[in-house]
Amino acid sequence: MDCRWKGIIEAYRDYLPVSEITPVISLHEGNTPLIKANNLSRVISPDKNLQIYLKYEGLNPTGSFKDRGMTMAISKAKEAGKEAVICASTGNTSASAAAYAARAGMKAYVILPKGAVALGKLSQAMVYGAKIIALMGNFDDALTVVRDIGENYPVEVVNSVNPYRIEGQKTAAFEICDFFGFAPDFHFLPVGNAGNITAYWKGYKEYYTIGKVKSTPRMVGFQAEGAAPIVKGFPIKNPQTIATAIKIGNPYSWQSALQAAKESDGLIDAVSDEEILNAYKLVASTEGIFCEPASAASIAGVIKLSKRGVFKGDEVIVCTLTGNGLKDPDTVIKASEKPVELPPDTVEIAKFLGLE
Ligand code: F0G
Repeated sequence: MDCRWKGIIEAYRDYLPVSEITPVISLHEGNTPLIKANNLSRVISPDKNLQIYLKYEGLNPTGSFKDRGMTMAISKAKEAGKEAVICASTGNTSASAAAYAARAGMKAYVILPKGAVALGKLSQAMVYGAKIIALMGNFDDALTVVRDIGENYPVEVVNSVNPYRIEGQKTAAFEICDFFGFAPDFHFLPVGNAGNITAYWKGYKEYYTIGKVKSTPRMVGFQAEGAAPIVKGFPIKNPQTIATAIKIGNPYSWQSALQAAKESDGLIDAVSDEEILNAYKLVASTEGIFCEPASAASIAGVIKLSKRGVFKGDEVIVCTLTGNGLKDPDTVIKASEKPVELPPDTVEIAKFLGLE
């Protein structure tokens, strides 16, 4: 039996809008681990026995969940004969678009908010060979320009305005249900342009409709407090947060995110940068998992709802860790103690370590 994983299109072909003529452009994305986080659970709520699982999407080929959507968007663009793709991005979408476009032999154009993208992500877009524009504006401005270009020029937009992105990303919900054999009670995730919460909810609903699972989770999305248009109910002109991946003031999938929360009896809420940073360090130091600051909004959200008394005990909770921490090392280096400099002297080092 050939049991090598060939990516989400081959794994979930029956649930995706592809046919035998679709050229599958894949980097073997998906099949990411769902890691049980007992240490984290004990710290968050020692008395509740919460069954917290982390869907570690930072282990995708370009280090974020975007690869699930991008394999679909690029394969369908290729099928349609497109030669170039374009996206606006806070970083991860551009890294993924550039990689999959390279693999497809297509051009990638990416428009990034100047000075607001983590260096790891920028370096990815560069090395994969994208044409990069540093826009004098924010993500929302970049997306407006990209959508204009998509309407007026022969270039495929691969932001989550492209429905194939949502189709690909819904497969993460399938993987979670396939792992457990049921749907979790709660699903927490960070919300930026709001495509991912939309995609997960679509995936859970589809599995429920065909009888693969007997329930659906409560969908809980967290924005950063300084970039929380959905929570506040109006677009934010100048969004601010340390979590640059979700620094978005006017999300495209605003309504479908609200719908996911409403239909699932969930909610969209916000956490402060301080809460995000604490959760970011906590998951790394208790579980050995390094995610991006934005990803940690999901864990900060669990902490917030736990304090609010939302959980009764024993609930199965999944948090999506959307991106790999190595993309944005600056954040943790700035927030941590500097390493101590010592000469190569065994006794001195042993003393410093408290071994002497
Ligand atoms: N987490 C990370 C690491 C992200 O990169 C993003 C979005 C999100 C969460 C939010 O997901 O937009 O579907 O609600 N990043 C986009 C980008 C905007 O350009 O890479 P969402």
